[in-house]
Order: sequence, then C-alpha cells, then structure tokens
Amino acid sequence: MLSVVVPTYNERDNIRELVERISSSLAGFEYEIVIVDDSSPDGTALETERLALEHPIKLMVRERRMGLGSAVVEGARIADGDVIVVMDADLQHPPELLPRLYGMIVDGGCDIAVASRRMGGASITGWSMWRKVISSSATLAARALLPEVRRVRDPLSGYFAYRKDRVRLDSLSPKGFKVLLEILTSNREAHVCEVPYSFGARGRGKSKLDVRVAIDYLTQLMRLSVRTLKFTVVGGSGVAVNLGALASLRTLGIVHVMAAAVAIEVSVLWNFTWNDMWTFSDSRSGRFGGRLARYHGATAAGLLTQYAVSVLLYWTLLPSSLLAQLVGIVAGFGANYLLSSSMVWKPGSVVEYKLM
Ligand code: GDD
Ligand code: MN
Repeated sequence: MLSVVVPTYNERDNIRELVERISSSLAGFEYEIVIVDDSSPDGTALETERLALEHPIKLMVRERRMGLGSAVVEGARIADGDVIVVMDADLQHPPELLPRLYGMIVDGGCDIAVASRRMGGASITGWSMWRKVISSSATLAARALLPEVRRVRDPLSGYFAYRKDRVRLDSLSPKGFKVLLEILTSNREAHVCEVPYSFGARGRGKSKLDVRVAIDYLTQLMRLSVRTLKFTVVGGSGVAVNLGALASLRTLGIVHVMAAAVAIEVSVLWNFTWNDMWTFSDSRSGRFGGRLARYHGATAAGLLTQYAVSVLLYWTLLPSSLLAQLVGIVAGFGANYLLSSSMVWKPGSVVEYKLM
C-alpha cells in the first residue's frame, strides 16, 4: 500500500483539487492520504473532513503550528503504507507523477525516489529571479557541505517517495524544513533514484517560506555538516604536518624521493588518528588496526597520485621539494575527488518503469 503524506498550513482552497487529483491519478492502487494540519486558521481541517467522506483520508490535526518537517515525520509515523510519498498541498507537486514515483520504488529497485526540479527534462515555473537565486544557492550549499546528498541533484525537493522498511526516520530531527536532507544524510546506504518533473506555480494561498524558514535551514545545514567541517579541519592540518615533516627530513639531508614518502605517511597517520578520535568517533567499528588498514585502502589512489606527482615534478620541472610536494597534495586531492564522485557518490539514476 501507498501512503501519501501531505503537510498543510492554510491550504483550504487547494485541498479539494489536490485530493481529487491524487485519487484519479492513483485509481486502481491501494492508497491512503495522510493530511497533517497544524490547526490552520483558514479551516483546512474542516474542508479535509468533508473530503474524507469520499476519499481514503487520515487526518491528523496538531494543536499549533509546529513546522513542515515535524508534520512530515508525524504523518509518516501514522501512515500504514509500505511506501510513503511526501508532497506539498499547493499543487506545485503534480499528483500525476505519483504512479511513477511509486513504480520506481516497487519495480525500479529504488529505496528513495526523488521528484527533481534540477535535471534534464525538469522545469520550474512561477518563481521570481530572487527565489531562483536563493534556491540554487541553498542547493549548492547543501551539495558542497554534505557529501551524502551529492547523490541527488535536487536534495531540497519536497516531493519524494521511500520504502518504509529500508529507510530510517527515527534518527531524524523533525526541526528542519527539508526532510529529504535528513533522510539522505542518515540513510547513506539507500539506493536513490531521481525523476524530472515540472514544478508548477502555486495554486491558491501563499508560500510559507520566510526568513525564519531560511534561518532554520542554515541551522539545519550547520548541524548536518559538523562532520564535513571537522574532516576539512583535519585535512588542512594534515597538509601542514605533511610539509612540516618534509622540511625537517630534508634539513636532515634525506633525499626527496625518500622524504616525500615518509612525510606522506606521517600525514596519513595524523589524519587517520584525528578522524578516528574526533570526526568519526561515533561510528568506529572493528579494531583500530583494521580501521587504519581500511583508511589506507580508501586513500591509496590519492596517496599514490600525490607521491608520483611530487617525485616526477621534483625530478623535472620543479626542483623545490616543498613546492613539488604541495602540487602533489593538490593532485592527490583532485584524484580523490574524481574517484569518489564517480564511484561512491554517483548522482541518482533515472529508472524507467512499466505502466501498470
Ligand atoms: N503542517 C504544517 N505545518 N504544514 C506546513 C507548515 C507547517 O508549519 N509550513 C508549511 N506547510 C505546508 C504547506 O501548507 C505546503 O503544503 C507545504 O508545507 C510546502 O509549503 P510551501 O509554503 O508551499 O513551501 P514552498 O513552496 O515555499 O517550498 C517548497 O520548496 C522547497 C524547496 O525550495 C517545498 O516543496 C519545500 O518542501 C521545499 O523544500
Ligand atoms: Mn509551495
């Protein structure tokens, strides 16, 4: 069964069209619509109760406005479906896409299916220049700070589906507006797919996105990216350690080929120790030695690139030990980036599905 979770705040004039379009698009499926309303002053809940006479609706009314994120989390909690879809009530998310999202989960082997505004075949209408700039910057910031969300091009989408048994919601902080961000960061193993759609203009009523939501988003991003920031600090200090070790070894008269290798290994041990004790202190598994070996394996390509570039440069164009090493570090970083972005964090794939 499919549960469509819809958070609402002052959407009275949209809810009927929304429910009717969901129902016709899901005719022939087993589904329910879970509406989580925060006691909207415009009477959204009353209108929903009327609709519930003719449609499979579960209505949850919360006493006061508690935010979009927590509405989604609570709605998913009372939903009975094996597949959950989250969508907005204002018709910017076309209900006609529902069978496709559902199909990607059921037939396409996806754990999470994201309806995307930011890929070939997608479009956005009805947004001001200003709103477009804000949204692109917010997307860029999320992708830059959170490696786990680089799997999708539209990690801020409010329209997505997931398999309940494969995706954990319990560790989610319901504070954020962007639930998908939380889902992607806390379900790193999930297989994510993305499908393009046309994000339309709002139906009736006003957007609830305001300065408070923007501040909430920034707070959410900071909280989720603490790990990335720690990793960056460690990496930065590792560069200093690497160059410092090289300089000391060279003053002792050790040749570049030898000193470069030792300096690289010293920095690897330095980075590993801090990442193990600090950045990833909450997710250590197995023995120390095992983790150390895996770390070497995971960074091997980058380390070899670093060493090769450093030594070759030193022999040919750049007879300065430290500069050659620095260029090597940058090259190693680039190699790591290219490898991880193509092998580890591939952007979501679009999976075709058969119409039922
Ligand atoms: N229950 C509840 N409580 N619902 C809320 C609240 C709240 O405090 N705030 C907003 N909603 C509901 C709205 O009624 C609507 O159905 C949905 O959440 C999205 O709100 P909009 O006000 O339409 O958001 P938007 O169109 O500006 O933002 C969209 O784009 C964002 C990315 O740019 C949404 O799809 C967001 O989810 C998305 O992150
Ligand atoms: Mn909207």
